[in-house]
Amino acid sequence: MSSTIIDGKSLAIQVRDKVKDEVNILESKYSIAPNLNVIQVGTDPPSLVYVRNKQIAAQKAGMCAKDIHLPEKISQKELISKIMELNIDPGVHGILVQLPLPYHIDTGKIIDAIDPNKDVDGVHPINIGRLSQGRQLFVPATPAGVQRMLLESGINPTGQHVVICGRSNIVGKPLALLLSQQNHGANSTVTVCHSKTRDIANFTRQADILVAAIGKPLFINSGMVKEGAVIIDVGINRIDDRKRKNGYRLVGDVDFDSVLGKVSSISPVPGGVGPMTIAMLLENTLLATRLAVGDLTTEY
Ligand SMILES: NC(=O)c1ccc[n+]([C@@H]2O[C@H](COP(=O)([O-])OP(=O)(O)OC[C@H]3O[C@@H](n4cnc5c(N)ncnc54)[C@H](OP(=O)(O)O)[C@@H]3O)[C@@H](O)[C@H]2O)c1
Repeated sequence: MSSTIIDGKSLAIQVRDKVKDEVNILESKYSIAPNLNVIQVGTDPPSLVYVRNKQIAAQKAGMCAKDIHLPEKISQKELISKIMELNIDPGVHGILVQLPLPYHIDTGKIIDAIDPNKDVDGVHPINIGRLSQGRQLFVPATPAGVQRMLLESGINPTGQHVVICGRSNIVGKPLALLLSQQNHGANSTVTVCHSKTRDIANFTRQADILVAAIGKPLFINSGMVKEGAVIIDVGINRIDDRKRKNGYRLVGDVDFDSVLGKVSSISPVPGGVGPMTIAMLLENTLLATRLAVGDLTTEY
């Protein structure tokens, strides 16, 4: 079987171009540009890259993007104060706290502190609660990107068995909520697997659509997938590669070469879910700005 490569990069460019047009319209109507503030604590190398990429993408879409880089040793109280400052600043429309945070900080408490109307990462319990009821406003960017990729690739998840490997609060769980809703582009039968799942291959082999989001390089191999399945690889893992100047390369959670030819479609790493995640973050930031200026009526 010839496998179609789902080109997240070009899909993301289309989304970003549309966001840019909408930003221009918003600016001409209200003389305001969306303002995204990304908080990063410490110097986790992948996070530095992700934050930089988000900032560049936001600027290219005509948004203001501020990177607030805080020291690793910042206290939880100080970090919450910083978030509160941004919450009450009318010039700030979107707030994102880059995860993971250092161990001494309670991530849940930090997320709770973000104004749900500025929570462009869609992780606040109010936004997750709305998502669980099918009344979502800000959907976490990665799950939103996965759903959009499927739909834009002509893959309708309705009635399909979607098996999600990984149950994190930012990917696996919200994706399960999103795809199991009684909404357009959803209505899937969802199974969520995790590290305590017994005989995970028994589940992955049943998937019409398999989403890998566990953070284990090349974990899913050919024997774990059904012939003709759709594979969405969320994982981003660095593995050593002496041939590269930087000494590493990025791979997904799926052994791409092993499943190619068996599956009907697959998203690559890099160039799959990653670019779509950034594009969805920009959509959410635009939405937050429209809320702030009264261009939309849904508010908490
Ligand atoms: N493309 C993007 O834009 C994007 C965005 C976010 C994340 N990511 C990538 O996606 C991956 C997952 O990220 P995350 O933040 O969701 O990760 P996470 O918070 O570390 O969660 C990993 C999940 O995978 C499960 N897991 C770990 N080992 C497993 C195994 N051997 N078998 C089955 N399940 C296993 C864990 O189970 P337990 O719950 O039982 O511990 C957990 O639910 C990472 O590679 C990350 O870099 C990519």
